[in-house]
Amino acid sequence: MTSNHFGRAIRDRFFLEDGIAFLNHGAYGATPRAVLAAADEWRRRMEAQPARFMQRELPGALRRAAAALGAFVGARGEDLVFVDNATTGVNAVLRSLALGAGDEVSTTTHVYGAVRMPLRHVCAAAGARLVEADVPFPLGSEDEIYSAVAAALTSRTRLLVIDHVTSSTALIFPVARLVALARSRGVRVLIDGAHAPGMLDLDIAALGCDFYVGNCHKWLFAPKGCGFLWAARDGRDRLHPAVISHGYGKGFLAEFDWTGTRDHSAWLAVVAALEFIARFGAAEIRAHNHDLLLRAARLLGDAWGTPAGGPPSMLGSMATIRLPLPQEATQANAVALHARLFERHGVEVPIVPFAGALWARISAQIYNDLDDYRRLAEIALA
Ligand SMILES: Cc1ncc(COP(=O)(O)O)c(C=O)c1O
Repeated sequence: MTSNHFGRAIRDRFFLEDGIAFLNHGAYGATPRAVLAAADEWRRRMEAQPARFMQRELPGALRRAAAALGAFVGARGEDLVFVDNATTGVNAVLRSLALGAGDEVSTTTHVYGAVRMPLRHVCAAAGARLVEADVPFPLGSEDEIYSAVAAALTSRTRLLVIDHVTSSTALIFPVARLVALARSRGVRVLIDGAHAPGMLDLDIAALGCDFYVGNCHKWLFAPKGCGFLWAARDGRDRLHPAVISHGYGKGFLAEFDWTGTRDHSAWLAVVAALEFIARFGAAEIRAHNHDLLLRAARLLGDAWGTPAGGPPSMLGSMATIRLPLPQEATQANAVALHARLFERHGVEVPIVPFAGALWARISAQIYNDLDDYRRLAEIALA
């Protein structure tokens, strides 16, 4: 299949409502019909004989799904476990840290809001200090991130938490360079790759980090509730899931593969999501999305006379463009504008208050075409 099949032609492979410009794949993804059908099929298999399924079929099926996912993200299946989402994976790592009073954990000012909370929690509980490296925005180059993070690491830093692709500001961080920097200072690294699988060509094992968390329900097209946690061999001894169950003390896979009775269909359907991607080609999807994203960012920047949040080299399938509005950059103003754009104009796009301005964060996915962004550009915003 070729990229001519993207855009309008492919929209009916998804459940997306007609008549809306959906520019927010980044928030929760959008799952193809075929992938949801595969998840349904797993549910039916489970209910045909629940005990047989849970005890005899599930363990092997889960490991096969992990192997398939591992092959896609540059990891061995036995080095990664499924989790419900990036939040759960991050919590597992942070809550397994043995922090002491006076220790420091570093992240950046671009950290995802829901990741900042468990960071605050574990630091407060241990009497440790959370340090947020002040990364400027808009950003001119990767070096600004590197310098900010380098300045934030001290002899007391126990862990660096960095985003692979930031949420509010939609920038690809130079994670390999940041990992090398942290390791040279003896600091362990957790990469929050919530947006990376499917958006970027991943080789997790080559990054040199200690932990990597990713979502499959965003850019990988899996059903919602599908994420993973990868851990380096020597980082696993004290690593436990946020929910402890039968597998406690029996090793990484035993601890994470069973955290209580649940519906595992979203995890198992990751295989169908990978098959969906393979039909078009992962590289073709990435290229289509990146190219459309850059054209859309240019279109909006020209229409509004405002800059994007970073250079094209730091963008994947998402970008932020400053809104040409005098309003204060408050959460209330962002919420009101977001609601107005959808309710009056049928445009779903997140509005982000950041660094004293309001920004529109656009996503580009295979069901989008340039008309979706034209619709946003043509709205009289003031
Ligand atoms: C950078 C980043 N980290 C973590 C998350 C949390 O993802 P989830 O809600 O799937 O746990 C998000 C969600 O958008 C994110 O953008």
